Amino acid sequence: RLGLLGKIKRMMMVLLFVYVSIPFIIKLFPSIQAKLVFLNFVRVPYFIDLKRPLDQGLNHTHNLYLEPEAGLKIGVWHTVPAQMWRDAQDKDGNWYRSTFSSAHPVILYLHGNAGTRGGDHRVQLYKVLSSLGYHVVTFDYRGQRGDSDGSPSERGMTSDALFIYDWLRQRMEKTLPLYIWGHSLGTGVLQNSIHTLVLNLTPDDQLLLVGPTAPCGTRLRSHKEQLVPTSWTSSDWFRFSPLNSSGSAGVDTILFPYLTYNLTVLHAEAVPLTSSSALLQLYSLASRSSSLSGHKVQFVAFPAALAFRHKFIYRSLELPNILSDFLGAAHPA
Ligand SMILES: *[C@@H]1O[C@H](CO)[C@@H](O)[C@H](O)[C@H]1NC(C)=O
Ligand SMILES: *[C@@H]1O[C@H](CO)[C@@H](O)[C@H](O)[C@H]1NC(C)=O
Ligand SMILES: *[C@@H]1O[C@H](CO)[C@@H](O)[C@H](O)[C@H]1NC(C)=O
Repeated sequence: RLGLLGKIKRMMMVLLFVYVSIPFIIKLFPSIQAKLVFLNFVRVPYFIDLKRPLDQGLNHTHNLYLEPEAGLKIGVWHTVPAQMWRDAQDKDGNWYRSTFSSAHPVILYLHGNAGTRGGDHRVQLYKVLSSLGYHVVTFDYRGQRGDSDGSPSERGMTSDALFIYDWLRQRMEKTLPLYIWGHSLGTGVLQNSIHTLVLNLTPDDQLLLVGPTAPCGTRLRSHKEQLVPTSWTSSDWFRFSPLNSSGSAGVDTILFPYLTYNLTVLHAEAVPLTSSSALLQLYSLASRSSSLSGHKVQFVAFPAALAFRHKFIYRSLELPNILSDFLGAAHPA
């Protein structure tokens, strides 16, 4: 029998083994990597009925399903500007679609990983944006636990975003800008979309990157380092690959030659997954990019003391001003 010391020793060996093997396991099983990146199996809050946005206090939101590919449905919410809430009662999809032709601009919101379009911090943001007079359109990527079909992939998420963009563009007033708001992993999807979409976006579209994940490789690396906080895993062999260089990785540098849109980056400090310095680099690259010259490029950092962290920028009392300043117009409300 082992003495106490022996037991402790054995336990330490087991822990050490687990600790050392985690990065190898993650590296060797890409499906685990994909799950860690997309966190699509996380559904918070679990019990909400996505067919009933009213349960989340959204009384002017319509739930619908679109098919980016034959047989693949994804769930979408369309929230009309809050001042239309009375008109919106008991209205069907046709009425909601008809509202796109009003003078109110549309914000396409690309959410981050984990959870669904009904997540609370997202819902709170839709409320703020709709109260400022914008339509907010948001959807769950394929494979997002919730009610969208399919399984998640970088390519799939991007084509879902492109599909929704086109769907909106076909319904909106041609002269109105479309604002694309990417949050967290959604900024990766956005940048990825741009790479493909660059020739299709209209010149008036404007982009907001919120809590951007910086170059995806960096982000994934820090993700993994949270799991295993050692420096030896930072060798390139351990780079995650589900989002790879054809898409979001390295996007900071490949992106800018193509960007000819006004761009703002909102960042709350003390965000665990991003590094301010990588973002500042991104920003300084953007501000020097020739394709962006003549365009507005903003970087807004919220002090850590406000504790907005990764999800709570909607609480900022400055947000309406930041937006109207960026969008260059009074809010339509
Ligand atoms: C419906 O939503 C609007 C905008 O959020 C709000 O001002 C209004 O009080 C809500 N109405 C009801 C009956 O809850
Ligand atoms: C982008 O910013 C520039 C410079 O501030 C401004 O003149 C232009 O109107 C903005 N573009 C749009 C589409 O608002
Ligand atoms: C990574 O990129 C290569 C091309 O560069 C592509 O063939 C491959 O499918 C991509 N992998 C994923 C998981 O997207």
